[in-house]
Amino acid sequence: MRAALLHECGSPPAVGERPLPTPADDEILVRVTAASITPLDLLCATGTSYFGAPVTPYVPGVQGVGVREDGVAVWFPTTAGMRPGDGSLAEYAAVRAADTVEVPPDADHALVAALGLSAVAAHMALTWRGGLQPGEQALVLGAGGVVGQAAVQLALLAGARRVIGAARSAAGRARALDAGAAAVCDLSGDPAALAARFREAAEGPVDLVLDPLFGVPAAAALRTLRPGGRLVNLGSSAGETAPLDSATLRSGSLQILGYTNNSLTAEQRSASLRLTAGHAAAGRLTVAYEKVALHDVGGAWSRRDSRMVVTP
Ligand SMILES: NC(=O)c1ccc[n+]([C@@H]2O[C@H](COP(=O)([O-])OP(=O)(O)OC[C@H]3O[C@@H](n4cnc5c(N)ncnc54)[C@H](OP(=O)(O)O)[C@@H]3O)[C@@H](O)[C@H]2O)c1
Repeated sequence: MRAALLHECGSPPAVGERPLPTPADDEILVRVTAASITPLDLLCATGTSYFGAPVTPYVPGVQGVGVREDGVAVWFPTTAGMRPGDGSLAEYAAVRAADTVEVPPDADHALVAALGLSAVAAHMALTWRGGLQPGEQALVLGAGGVVGQAAVQLALLAGARRVIGAARSAAGRARALDAGAAAVCDLSGDPAALAARFREAAEGPVDLVLDPLFGVPAAAALRTLRPGGRLVNLGSSAGETAPLDSATLRSGSLQILGYTNNSLTAEQRSASLRLTAGHAAAGRLTVAYEKVALHDVGGAWSRRDSRMVVTP
């Protein structure tokens, strides 16, 4: 079969031939229809992730959508780049049957692949971890990314009364508005200046911040929270550390919560995937993505302007 092959950590994969995978006893063979290139794929392929350097060559791709032998479409995860074994960026993948999730028959496979675990992270960070309540106001940082775009829409679907989106780029802010943000902010300035802009964009106090960025944006967002408000951090695109001030934290009895998809049970992950894929199939949830052919995987590998979805 044809597959994206990563021969050397730090370099993009190239298309090559790979033997058809032989499923183990608990696995099934899936014909891949769509697989996204995610930040986790890029991180693992650098060889510097906390999973250690992967054995090369390997087929990257930590998730995908494909068709089982009985014709049913499923979403599936893989551990490519984190553990030995091949991933989703190939014509076929051997995947653990118990980890697969059937997707609605009318779902767009490329869209479900683009959303995947990014939408699960947005959904579970908002609801399970962040405790979003109907009527609350949410501030979504990095709202132009896949997590951010999904979070804006999923917060509204969960009953948020208002969502503010913040993104550093004009394109990101435009995507946040498309997703349904009532107002958008850029991310320039120090925490005090940025917090003032967030407060201006907000109608009253913010109840919940969804934060894939950390750094200055997180420090500023904390200053906009109502007493007892929550910030859920799930990434560090703007900084591994943040200039938090004690007075803000303690005066508001604020809660800073960490989130990772890795702490979900398989049931939680499947339920969230079913819900988000269902919203996507019904036209309630979408993100910006671009389809690319398998032979273009090398060129698409590091593109950051949109989520790349490989369609083998
Ligand atoms: N904890 C988990 O389980 C989990 C799950 C999924 C994702 N994540 C993490 O969440 C983050 C977002 O994921 P994603 O899928 O949404 O990625 P993505 O689609 O690539 O989006 C990343 C966004 O981050 C913004 N960004 C990058 N560097 C920035 C900086 N220095 N300052 C401000 N904004 C910056 C970009 O904004 P512009 O578009 O405006 O340039 C972009 O929209 C990643 O760090 C990812 O690893 C965590």
